[in-house]
Amino acid sequence: MCGIIGYVGSKDLVSVLLNGLKRLEYRGYDSAGMAIKTNLGITLLKSEGKITNLESIIKEQNLAGLDGNIGIAHTRWATHGKPTTINAHPHSAGSISLVHNGIIENYQELRIILEEEGFKFKSDTDSEVLAHLINKFYNGNLPQAVEKALNEVEGTYGAAVISKEDNMIVGAKKGSPLILGIGSGEHFLASSEIPIRDHTRRIISLKDGDIITITKDKYNIVSLGQRQEREIETIEWDTEALEKKGYKHFMLKEIHTQPETLTETLRGRIEPNKKNIHLGGFDNLPGEYFEQLNRIILLGCGTSWHACKVGKYLFEKTLRIPVAAEYASEFRYQNPVVNPGDMVMAVSQSGDTADTLAALQEGIRRGGVPFGMVNVVGSQIAREADKGIYLHAGPEIGVASTKAFTSQVLAFNLLNLYLGIIRNKISDEEAQDMIVAIESIPSKVREALLLENEIKAVAEEYCNHSNFLYLGRGLNFPVALEGALKLKEISYIHAEGYPAAEMKHGPIALIDNNMPSVFVATEMNSSCSKIISNMEQVRSRNGKIIAITTEDYSSQIGPLADHTIYVPNVQEYLSPIVNVIPLQLLAYHIADMKGLDVDKPRNLAKSVTVE
Ligand code: AGP
Repeated sequence: MCGIIGYVGSKDLVSVLLNGLKRLEYRGYDSAGMAIKTNLGITLLKSEGKITNLESIIKEQNLAGLDGNIGIAHTRWATHGKPTTINAHPHSAGSISLVHNGIIENYQELRIILEEEGFKFKSDTDSEVLAHLINKFYNGNLPQAVEKALNEVEGTYGAAVISKEDNMIVGAKKGSPLILGIGSGEHFLASSEIPIRDHTRRIISLKDGDIITITKDKYNIVSLGQRQEREIETIEWDTEALEKKGYKHFMLKEIHTQPETLTETLRGRIEPNKKNIHLGGFDNLPGEYFEQLNRIILLGCGTSWHACKVGKYLFEKTLRIPVAAEYASEFRYQNPVVNPGDMVMAVSQSGDTADTLAALQEGIRRGGVPFGMVNVVGSQIAREADKGIYLHAGPEIGVASTKAFTSQVLAFNLLNLYLGIIRNKISDEEAQDMIVAIESIPSKVREALLLENEIKAVAEEYCNHSNFLYLGRGLNFPVALEGALKLKEISYIHAEGYPAAEMKHGPIALIDNNMPSVFVATEMNSSCSKIISNMEQVRSRNGKIIAITTEDYSSQIGPLADHTIYVPNVQEYLSPIVNVIPLQLLAYHIADMKGLDVDKPRNLAKSVTVE
């Protein structure tokens, strides 16, 4: 959370920083600010709320085109201190200005000491402590002052610092991401490569402990006092993925482009004989590891955790070994049992989620073998895991995750097949059938997207309700959880996901004609009559039913439901991919009809990089 960008070069500084902030706004949008260094000194600009507010301030002051060539900027997701202008970054102390992403855990102790020493604080933030510390140690050598200040702090940071005196930006990383962008006669520092890729494709992802100095022509990375040589990576995603391309919102675009993003997840992973799966990120482990594997631990948060629950279902059914799908945010505090050699897989769209990264590190500490299932190439989790599977779904900008979820479920299907073949749980014929089913998924999703008008009509009817229940069994339970999460995060409507059969153990008390229930009821071979009874229980209490099902069940479900959405038939393991599409669209249209900011829902941020 929080996004930072720093720039040294000869382009129009204010535009580079402002456009960079717009690209980073998915990381937080409570307040924003920038510090620009010109021959007149450092000008600080800050505002509450979204970047557009900061933009208006800049316009009022007629600053665009100002003759400066060094600057830092920040978009905030509040952790310590309310989202006010005074708490917005950059924070300044003496000649120092600083932007910071992360948390200074010992800020209260440090603040007391600094105040006793006479330093005057303006904000309630933890970050201001760091600005004062750097100022305290500054004697003309900015990198050294930053290093000394960081020796005093506990916590996490991706920070960028400038001073009135120096023609450089000093950056530092620990626990929060920081990327160097290398241009020609210009350098960038940012929380992700997204704002950098408008300018250059050459980046270095900094490591924990790095302190970097950038000027127009040079960069210098130091860790533990030693100069570091790092390989330059080339960014592959094109900037088109960062535009809405005619869609009203990024979320809508991301929902609609799932046939293409799923195709990307599959690219190069199915062997030409269609009997095997190729996963390059697993090549560096011997086949015996997977043959002998006897436990898998899947870690994720939010939507990624829902995908883990699908993964657990698949793996346990096919591989017949115990699989845990754990909330990453809980894992490391529950004294988890990890046996040496267990596969510990962190699942994350951003690859930067602090809880998931910390859980993976805990798994490693306890002897697990780390794997990642990540979308953002080179992200912190990807590097920590070193082995695993990239989603290749392209940048996901909407705060509500959509295409990452479907790619995660597809990646779990590939992995299930890969492991099932190695462990002789899947025959050649079964593998071929599954591969044919997997290859058909992009076109099935395309079919499901055609349901949009029907779903819009349902959205219109229910957009003013205040509560929803989402119910499903087996593989459809995580889909129900995901549908409920989508609705609450973008429409602010209370929604609960529940196993359908658990409803009678409590939530049934909530049912009346104001509480619609969305049933995800497609995989019901053994439980059809049970789900039908659950629907009857809702109906007899005047509850409205919206059913997501297939034509196979039209005669049983059609008469019970107030609205029936028929999704295309697909193989069971792949059904969450198709079933979630109407739920994504339902949440989107309800939020849009309520006039809400779908891509930037209140209080949320795309990457949660604090614990
Ligand atoms: C999903 O819509 C959410 N915004 C959120 O729950 C998200 O899935 C979670 O924070 C995990 O993010 P990650 O996949 O980037 O790790």
